[in-house]
Amino acid sequence: MSKPVNIGLIGCGFMGRTHSNAYRKVSNFFTTQHRPVLKAVCARNKENAAEFARSWGYESVETDWRKLVERKDIDAIDICTPNNTHSEIALAALKAGKMVLCEKPLSMNAAEGEQMARAAEAAGVPNIVWYNYRRVPAVTMAKKLIDEGRLGRIFHYRAVFLQDWTINADLPQGGTALWRLDAAAAGSGVTGDLLAHCIDTAIWLNGSVDRVSAMTETFVKERMHNLTGKVEKVGIDDACAFLARFKNGSLATFESTRYARGHKAKYFFEINGEHASIAWDLHDLHRLEYFDHRDESQLRAWRSIHVTDGDHPYMGHWWVPGLQIGYEHTFVHQVADFLQGLDDGKPVAPTFRDALETQRVCDAVLESAKSERWVNV
Ligand SMILES: NC(=O)c1ccc[n+]([C@@H]2O[C@H](COP(=O)([O-])OP(=O)(O)OC[C@H]3O[C@@H](n4cnc5c(N)ncnc54)[C@H](O)[C@@H]3O)[C@@H](O)[C@H]2O)c1
Repeated sequence: MSKPVNIGLIGCGFMGRTHSNAYRKVSNFFTTQHRPVLKAVCARNKENAAEFARSWGYESVETDWRKLVERKDIDAIDICTPNNTHSEIALAALKAGKMVLCEKPLSMNAAEGEQMARAAEAAGVPNIVWYNYRRVPAVTMAKKLIDEGRLGRIFHYRAVFLQDWTINADLPQGGTALWRLDAAAAGSGVTGDLLAHCIDTAIWLNGSVDRVSAMTETFVKERMHNLTGKVEKVGIDDACAFLARFKNGSLATFESTRYARGHKAKYFFEINGEHASIAWDLHDLHRLEYFDHRDESQLRAWRSIHVTDGDHPYMGHWWVPGLQIGYEHTFVHQVADFLQGLDDGKPVAPTFRDALETQRVCDAVLESAKSERWVNV
C-alpha cells in the first residue's frame, strides 16, 4: 500500500527546481511503498511561491519557513536555501520531529555541522544531504568496481571542479543567485561550493582523508554588495588547490576555481590503482573510463564504458539499453533511495553524520590555506 510522505520545500531557486522535478518523477520510474506528496513550498515572496507552486504542483504556499516547519501535515523538510540558513532550519525541523533533506554543504563549518548531526541522531529521524554526484550511474559504478577490488591498492586520487563565471570584476556579490560570492551567506567560496562535491565523492570512493595542504586565492578583492549597495571586501576563496593524504596511504590533488576560462562545470576525477584506473567527467557523465592492466597486452587500452545498460546502476529503471540519462536524474535517484530507506527502515547515505566528514575536510583546507601548513583533518 502506498504511504504518502508530505514534503515541505524551502527555497525556489536552482535546487528547489531540481528537487521538485525529482519528487514529481520518482514514482513513475521507481517502485517504493513511500511516495512523495508536494504538500507545500516556502519562499519569502508570496507571488514567487504561488507561481512556483502552480508550475510544480504544490498544494499550498508559505512565506515563513518557521510556519512550514511547525505544520502538522508536513513529514519532511527539504532545505534548498543558501548555506547560512541550513543549520537554523534543520535544527528547527528536527526539533519538530520532521525528516530533513538538506542541500550541501551541510553547514557553514564543522562545528555547526556537528550540532546538526547530533540533533538528527537525537531526533532519530531520517536525514540526508544532497551530494547527488554519488548517484550518477557511472559514479555509482566506479564505487562498485572499487569495492569489488578491481583497482587493487589505490595510489592516486585527483579531482578538479572548474568554472569561469566570476571573472568579471563588475559582478556584484550577495542577494539572489549571487549569495555564493558573499562569505556571510556561503561560508566559503569554491571550497564549500564545488570542492565539497569532490571531497564527498572522494571519501565515498577512497575512504577518509588524513591531512591536507592547501592554497587559496581571491582574485577580485572587492565587489559591490547587492544588499548594502556598497563596495565591500570579498571574503570567499575564488580558487583553491590542495594536496591530501588519504588514510589508505594514497596521495591526492584537488583543484577548484571559478576563473578557468572555457569551463562551465568541469567536474573530473581519476583514480589510479595497482591493477586498474578509472576516470569520470561530468561533461560526459554517462561514460566511465576504465583501464585494466590485466587485459591481454596487445588489446590493453582505456575502455570507454557507456553506462546505459540494464545491469548498470539505476539504468534498469529508465529507457532501453543505450539511451542515456542526465544531471536531473541524479536527484531522482537520491529521492528513490531515500524512499527505499523509509520502506526498509534504514538510513541512506550521505546522512548528516556522513556529510560532516566533508565539512571537516573543508575546514582543514581553509585552515591550511590560511596558515600555509599541513593540517590534520
Ligand atoms: N547538489 C548540488 O549539486 C547543488 C547545486 C547547486 C546548489 N546547491 C546548494 O543548494 C542550496 C541552494 O542553492 P541554489 O543554487 O538553489 O540557490 P538559488 O539562489 O538558486 O536559490 C536559493 C533560494 O532560496 C531562497 N531563500 C533564501 N533565503 C530564504 C529564506 N529565509 N526562506 C525561504 N527562501 C529563502 C531564495 O529566495 C532562492 O529562491 C545551497 O546550499 C547550494 O550550495 C547544491
